[in-house]
Amino acid sequence: MIDLSKQGFRLEPPEANISYQDTMDIHSHRILILDFGSQYTQLIARRIREARVYCEIHPFNIPIDKIKGFNPKGIVLSGGPSSVYDRGAPVVPREVFSLGVPILGICYGMQITARLLGGRVARSKKREYGGANLYIDDRSDLFYGLRKDTLRVWMSHSDRVERIPPGFSVIARSENSVVASMRDGERRIYGVQFHPEVVHTEKGKRILKNFLFRICRCRPVWTMRSFIDTTVREIRERVGDAGVVCGISGGVDSAVTAVLVHRAVGNRLTCIFVDNGVLREGETKKVERTLKKNFHMRIRCVDASARFFRKLKGVTDPEKKRKIIGREFIRVFEEEASRIKGVGFLAQGTLYPDVIESVSFKGPSATIKSHHNVGGLLKRMRLRLVEPLRELFKDEVRALGRELGMPEEIIERHPFPGPGLAIRIIGEVTEKRCKILRMADQIVLDEIKKAGLYKELWQAFAVLLPVRTVGVMGDERTYENTVAVRAVESVDGMTADWVRLPYSVLERISSRIINEVEGVNRVVYDISSKPPSTIEWE
Ligand code: XMP
Repeated sequence: MIDLSKQGFRLEPPEANISYQDTMDIHSHRILILDFGSQYTQLIARRIREARVYCEIHPFNIPIDKIKGFNPKGIVLSGGPSSVYDRGAPVVPREVFSLGVPILGICYGMQITARLLGGRVARSKKREYGGANLYIDDRSDLFYGLRKDTLRVWMSHSDRVERIPPGFSVIARSENSVVASMRDGERRIYGVQFHPEVVHTEKGKRILKNFLFRICRCRPVWTMRSFIDTTVREIRERVGDAGVVCGISGGVDSAVTAVLVHRAVGNRLTCIFVDNGVLREGETKKVERTLKKNFHMRIRCVDASARFFRKLKGVTDPEKKRKIIGREFIRVFEEEASRIKGVGFLAQGTLYPDVIESVSFKGPSATIKSHHNVGGLLKRMRLRLVEPLRELFKDEVRALGRELGMPEEIIERHPFPGPGLAIRIIGEVTEKRCKILRMADQIVLDEIKKAGLYKELWQAFAVLLPVRTVGVMGDERTYENTVAVRAVESVDGMTADWVRLPYSVLERISSRIINEVEGVNRVVYDISSKPPSTIEWE
């Protein structure tokens, strides 16, 4: 590991620094990211948070008063798909540059900086996309501590800065002397044409850290330990003496929410676990065991499976299945919650990406997940929301879970859809078909875990097809169900690739399913990527 203190860092690297936490508010040293719509904006935020500095993403056009009110230690202008010459190209008010706050413009963010401050941006005929060489001219601040003058960086742009604005100097170039980074040291305004936030940029993290710690003089106080202290205090203040209910599903978000709220209000929290009949094998017991035994939480498990199966009878349309399960879940939850006295709040595991999505300048996303749709419930029961994970990314939720002492089994769990196995049983969902799928699914997971592959995958599961095929077992001819196996790699579920599972693992999965699950005589492996397919089959 490089010793940063020997390289002129005034502050210790985050890992070595605990003492700030007792005295400093975790939000006090924060960075504002103004979003111009880049696919990498969330990555910028994650890199900054990994450096233990709090940051938030806001649309580029938030009012200047809000920017001042945010009181940032620094501002990052993100990349974006526009050209500064497009009609209606997004811009920030010029005033942003005279707040006296350091600014880092990335890609489009640098071009808009150049344009607004009197430089010239030219349209390139050719788009520069992918790896490129960066030749550094000045290593005094943004590129401080880098040993080499040349780095491989990730470019993704078509416009370029042709003339830098007055007061600026060029601190790095790419091929043919194109401006790849510029600086106005006096006003502490910086621009980079490449993307320091992506892993393909060599020393990208270091460059961002230089901006945070050397230029903005941030302190690395955003840690999960201090997050717990602050959030527990905030939950107590918000909730007062009221009771809280929380729906848990076995998923990491709801489990971490529950444990955190429990730490704040103890047994005034009641968790409700609804067994909708389409859960994985042993799910109810697993959740009960972990949260009840390890954390001594109050949990009400409601077996509503019969009720769900009744409603699903004869239904084959996937969207109808989703609606029925979502609606029924809210009903069961509400009935159960209304039996608890003094409840004033509903705790929910909303994460930061959902929050950004709904405030994004592109407009509210059309794909807000159905389980967030609790408006009616809140109104009818006169509940208010507690969403302690609203500021966190998924990897931060996992780190928080670990800090709270939760077992890896829950923290590393794959995502599981709200409508559960119902959207993996193609055609009608019956108890019998559910039982077949549950057994097959358990074998898939079991073998993947045994092969040590579980953590590397985004999801792995079985799907029950409405297809029967002929087989032979012993001397007898069979005519039974087909199971499809799916295993995918993904970063966020938006795109995915099928996993090249070793043949030996596939072989074990197949032979175990056919031998152990009555009613299945054929197993197939799904080799489709997303897009154009989806991860789930329905
Ligand atoms: P698709 O199938 O759209 O899945 O590629 C992307 C991710 O979303 C999950 N998924 C759902 N999650 N309710 C959920 O809570 C749903 O109706 C639903 N449908 C898909 C899927 O498991 C994958 O992780």
